[in-house]
Amino acid sequence: MNFLKAYWKSISLTLGLMALLTACGGGDETTESTADPQSAEGETEETTEGQADADHEFKLGLITPPEHMWHKAAEKFKEELEANSNGRMTLEIYPSGQVGNENDMLQQIESGSLDFGFITAAEISSREEAFSAWFTPYLFETINDAHEARESEVAEEMLGTLEQYGMTGLDYLFAGQRVMLFKDKEVQQPEDMEGLVLRVTPSPPMLEFYNSTGTSTEGIPLPEVYSAVQTGVIDGMDMDLDATITNKFFEVVDYGAVTNHMVWPSVAVVNSNTFSSLPEEDQQIIEDALETAADYAVETRSAQEEEFKQTLTDEGMTIYELDESVFEEQIESFDEKYKEKDPLIEEFITTFRE
Ligand code: BEZ
Repeated sequence: MNFLKAYWKSISLTLGLMALLTACGGGDETTESTADPQSAEGETEETTEGQADADHEFKLGLITPPEHMWHKAAEKFKEELEANSNGRMTLEIYPSGQVGNENDMLQQIESGSLDFGFITAAEISSREEAFSAWFTPYLFETINDAHEARESEVAEEMLGTLEQYGMTGLDYLFAGQRVMLFKDKEVQQPEDMEGLVLRVTPSPPMLEFYNSTGTSTEGIPLPEVYSAVQTGVIDGMDMDLDATITNKFFEVVDYGAVTNHMVWPSVAVVNSNTFSSLPEEDQQIIEDALETAADYAVETRSAQEEEFKQTLTDEGMTIYELDESVFEEQIESFDEKYKEKDPLIEEFITTFRE
């Protein structure tokens, strides 16, 4: 994350100079008092801004349940953060949307009432369209390829666009790629999808891809998907294998086409004021801890692909592979349309489309 490092170095320098000027002017010692609206006890945390040995109690929210890879990555982040700061920095994790849905969490991070979030790039793209580029169909063969792409200049530039919302984008964490689940039809080509109603994460690029196959789409948030398919509101869904297992969708769908048509990043974001008020040393500890968590997530998840397919087969689903070649038309029209939307999207697609 070199671009970010340079950026934060300049911010730290500015903050350092401001602190020096305040001190010279005989100003009071700056003490930040953060009331936490998420805490049942309404406890107040006292931290001394910019002090290298200050204690910090951070909170992180995410939408997925404790069994999901992103939660395991959050635990790894916590472990690293606490160990590398000798317990000065601590992290409390709120999984399963306990502090609200992703839009709520984004607002809390922007306002500073929540420090960190692992927020889907799909939700983030509602703030900044450039993040849609991650949902370009069949751009990456594996999640390892996407994990490497997160270090590219263009991916880092995308993170930089979040500053205007009061958030600092720190890194990307990958779960499994997207697959298609169908309640009672074995789909082998886009023509078989015509007339079906599929749940797709309410994100324009994902809706665009599905609509180009002739399916009708419903933008239903994750917690409502199980009952929507059970009650017949939808005929299937766009999902990843991880969430198919953790949300027990295998109980309500029979067919799983392993298309791996899109990668599925979450973006590690932090309130900008929280981050910029930390000394450089603490910012570095946070960045390093996140990098370790991101590496852990991709290594662990890529080793689980066969195990997950077997688990779903054992649960009674028909799991089959569906090759990219059947979606050639949709891929071409997506690239054409999305490259025109934003220069960062164009750069991203051009860089990674081989
Ligand atoms: C989804 O909305 O499909 C989803 C969200 C988070 C993790 C996995 C899936």
